[in-house]
Amino acid sequence: MRLIFLGPPGSGKGTQSEFICKDFHIVQLSTGDLLRYHRKNGTELGKKAKEFMDKGELVPDDLIIEIIRNELKKKEYSNGFLLDGFPRTITQAEALDKLLAELNLHLDAVLVLNVPTEELITRLTARRTCPICGKTYHLIYNPPKVDGKCDLDGGELYQRSDDNEETVRNRLEVYEKQTKPLIDYYQSKGLAYFIDGIGKIEDIYSRLKAILDSIKKN
Ligand code: AP5
Ligand code: MG
Repeated sequence: MRLIFLGPPGSGKGTQSEFICKDFHIVQLSTGDLLRYHRKNGTELGKKAKEFMDKGELVPDDLIIEIIRNELKKKEYSNGFLLDGFPRTITQAEALDKLLAELNLHLDAVLVLNVPTEELITRLTARRTCPICGKTYHLIYNPPKVDGKCDLDGGELYQRSDDNEETVRNRLEVYEKQTKPLIDYYQSKGLAYFIDGIGKIEDIYSRLKAILDSIKKN
């Protein structure tokens, strides 16, 4: 299956991707995780991306489209993928359409997670992330088994530099202005599926799984 995860910052895209990819044998491609990897390794791309990410602004389209072009051609995505955090602008969505047409591939669904703004702020300001595998936790809603350590690899959990309240509010505004229009874009193509993103993590996954199972059958 080839899927897009659309939803505001903190809606649970990363959290739910882990379950979807495991059950449906597809690979997650998170542009945010990729950019953070480049930043950590001090690459040119990482240096360019830093100033935008720290302000909660989007990294320029041309840089992002280049990353996706290179990634999606890799063999690891041949069984299917889940795009997490891409596309984020109409320009990116159009570039993706063009790339998929070149590769003779089609999208199966765009999953749209709905969560109200105040809940997003609570989720993001208490999020902790593993520097090794990227898994996310929440100090109250989704704590690690051992304080400060990743359940999967023992990595020392950290707070993302864009998870402070001021930057989070800007990220949410950027989502409203630049990314939300993609919902109409994909709805007009008959690809959008809406999921209530409020509730227990496992309950939200059940909602997602029911949709994906029905798509798989058809
Ligand atoms: P990116 O890394 O993509 O961040 P984002 O879209 O802002 O989304 P998040 O990762 O913050 O949220 P999420 O939905 O994954 O939530 P999570 O599952 O972690 O992008 C970062 C930056 O990179 C951008 O600002 C931009 O600068 C740049 N960038 C990336 N892609 C780009 C692109 N395509 N174009 C241009 N620039 C780009 O969950 C959040 C928290 O909530 C966690 O603590 C989690 O434990 C908790 N939680 C999850 N589910 C629940 C639940 N059901 N109940 C309670 N808590 C929950
Ligand atoms: Mg994420």
